[in-house]
Amino acid sequence: MSVGTLITFDLLVAVLIAATWLGAGAAAAARRSGIALALFVAAAVLSVARAATAAVLAGAGWWFVQEKVTLTLPLLAVAGVVAAAVAGPRLVRAARGGRADLAGRPAVVVPLLGAGYAAVAGPVYALLLGYPATWSAGLVTVALVGAAVLLTWRIVSAPGSLPVSAARAAVAAALAAGLAGTGLAFVPAPETDAGGGVPTRHLAAGHPADGRTAGTTGAPAADEHATGTGAAHAAGTDTTGEHAPEAHGSGGSATGEHAPEAHEAGAGGVRPVTALRGPSEPAPGGTTRRFALTARTTTVTLSSGRRVAAWTFDGKVPGPPITAVEGDLVEVRLRNADVTSGVTIHWHGYDVPAGEDGVPGLTQDAVRPGQEFTYRFLADQVGTYWYHTHEVSDIGVRKGLYGMLVVTSRAGGPADHVSGSASGPASDGETGRTQDGGAGTGGPAVSTPGLDLTLPVHTFGGVTVIGDHDRTIERSAAPGTPVRLRLVNTDNTPHRFTLAGAPYRLVAVDGQDLNGPGELGRVGLRLPAGGRYDLAFTMPAARTVLLAVDDRTDGLRLSPREGAPAPGATSAPALGTTGPSTSRAPVPESGPGTAPGAGSGTAGSAGVSGSAGDGAGWPELDITRYGTPAGTPFGLGSRFDRRFTLVLDRGLAFSDGRPLYAHTVNGRAFPSIPTQVVRDGELVRFTVVNRSRDTHPWHLHGHRVLVLSRDGRPTSGSPLWLDTFDVRPGEVWEVAFRAANPGLWMNHCHNLAHADQGMVLHLNYEDVTTPFHGAHGG
Ligand code: C2O
Ligand code: CU
Repeated sequence: MSVGTLITFDLLVAVLIAATWLGAGAAAAARRSGIALALFVAAAVLSVARAATAAVLAGAGWWFVQEKVTLTLPLLAVAGVVAAAVAGPRLVRAARGGRADLAGRPAVVVPLLGAGYAAVAGPVYALLLGYPATWSAGLVTVALVGAAVLLTWRIVSAPGSLPVSAARAAVAAALAAGLAGTGLAFVPAPETDAGGGVPTRHLAAGHPADGRTAGTTGAPAADEHATGTGAAHAAGTDTTGEHAPEAHGSGGSATGEHAPEAHEAGAGGVRPVTALRGPSEPAPGGTTRRFALTARTTTVTLSSGRRVAAWTFDGKVPGPPITAVEGDLVEVRLRNADVTSGVTIHWHGYDVPAGEDGVPGLTQDAVRPGQEFTYRFLADQVGTYWYHTHEVSDIGVRKGLYGMLVVTSRAGGPADHVSGSASGPASDGETGRTQDGGAGTGGPAVSTPGLDLTLPVHTFGGVTVIGDHDRTIERSAAPGTPVRLRLVNTDNTPHRFTLAGAPYRLVAVDGQDLNGPGELGRVGLRLPAGGRYDLAFTMPAARTVLLAVDDRTDGLRLSPREGAPAPGATSAPALGTTGPSTSRAPVPESGPGTAPGAGSGTAGSAGVSGSAGDGAGWPELDITRYGTPAGTPFGLGSRFDRRFTLVLDRGLAFSDGRPLYAHTVNGRAFPSIPTQVVRDGELVRFTVVNRSRDTHPWHLHGHRVLVLSRDGRPTSGSPLWLDTFDVRPGEVWEVAFRAANPGLWMNHCHNLAHADQGMVLHLNYEDVTTPFHGAHGG
């Protein structure tokens, strides 16, 4: 049983336990001693058994059981033992002797119901509060259970049977616990989390990026930094102490390296995020690519003729593809025509300077109707990316404010050829051509004629579309053509892809080339929300290649174009330019896609690879074990400057003052989740734990993270650099990154509905501030 399943199972058992204890109490009160005894025995057995599920869960990590072990199970144990000792013998006598009246006595009913209340606390606590257990919640829980017991006693016992002084004392105790717990709930959370690193003195008091403290960021912030010189000396000293052993084993050297930085920071080196902007010139050899995007509401027509009300960039869904060649300067002028809630553009997965990151209230103000904003950044990451609004992004992205960003390598030829992507208008039957068809696994990219399709998957009103196609995209390619499919998930939940008809490789994930990706056949590819997979294969001679989405929809049907020359196929293999992948035997023709229908083709001489659904039973590819290991700049054994743990859960929390059944991080919702603080150059490790029953695609802006391990098992395939990783229920991911992109960054769940309901925090570099007020989860 997976940990995720176990979490649900444990919850169900907890509910069952509560029901049996309460049932036993109710049956006793109704003088049904036989039933009461049976339920009592069942409740006792189940209660003991639950210790076993908790023990198994504990094996997956303390986070999964913390509140159970420290609070709800002990509470249940105490109440259960009392019930067994006090009510048990009486109940047995009642049942054996047929003395129904005995069963209805307070000494039987109250302990049984009391155990029931204590048992109820378990699932209620897990559902409403979860991790971490706090004194506040613990005291309130105990007070509520105590109050319920007292009330029950009061109701079922004859007046005067309870000594007044004892009753008063019990009421007073419950009241005190409840009040103390309630009071503690108002103790504010710390605003920052240093992750075990050097505490960040001058940021902590006036953390300016946080909406709650926005009003105080003017003068107080200035004061703070005015006194920063003093603080900087202290900080400088700390830095020396902290880094000397690691850096060079020489205090002098470390001091030399770090002192100027600290000094600069303290003495007015505080940078506003607005100063962290992109360059104005391309890299040598590159050009400036200018794009103008206008956000506006409109009705778009999908390929079937279906019309949907949308929020768009330039009236299209997806927005115009933004393409560039490595080294180019991308300049995008965003205008907002009539999207009243405002718009920004966030470059998902692209590690742009913080001032270009497009987060309203943090790096810029939202662009209101009539306004504009120009983004500039260097196209220095080759691969498949996307862009989307970050203002009320849950609604904005869902309604269509997104588009593709594809950057090709300079060696791979001009990027203009990506224009044939399926994200273009439905009528565009043209296919992309010259493209880096190489797997790019470290070898030089080879310019070969090929087909390069960008396939953004999105859901409009329950209909899955690729680009603007809500019907199967039909394309053809000459046999031997190198094909690259760039799959992009712009939805809130994962999509499963299967490719039948040709052996292929998953050559890049989140824009990053994998090392030595092996050939794939009958597997399902689960693409997290926000994530990208690039697939590469050679167009087969007599077989249709079919890409299915979610085992339901035929997304793309690629037929061989008979008679067409097979361009460059013999001289420039499209795949496996390095390492073990080239030595791998090709998957035989009978490999993938020979499923039903392969031999009974209806499309001329081309075999049909079946249809969506054929791949439903194919196992899912585990990308943490795919490809070939290679060196990484850091790893599990590295010494980390900061370590942060993010426990994802669901529970009651306050978000901007309103109580919410939120998606929480460490028991809190945005903006009350402490901001993670790092320094430029530090090595940072995240442990991301999912205690909830939802999948959370975790996304840190401005940085790619290296996956170290999942569920305690180190990655064993290609190094995996991701910008969005899917943390499924019960999973624990360890990831790490080098903090080398100073700024203020969102760190959030890319199920944007979850983000909207609290699952957002910030990761800030010390000494970067924002002039914008009102950063929000959007
Ligand atoms: Cu694509 Cu903040 O997200
Ligand atoms: Cu989520």
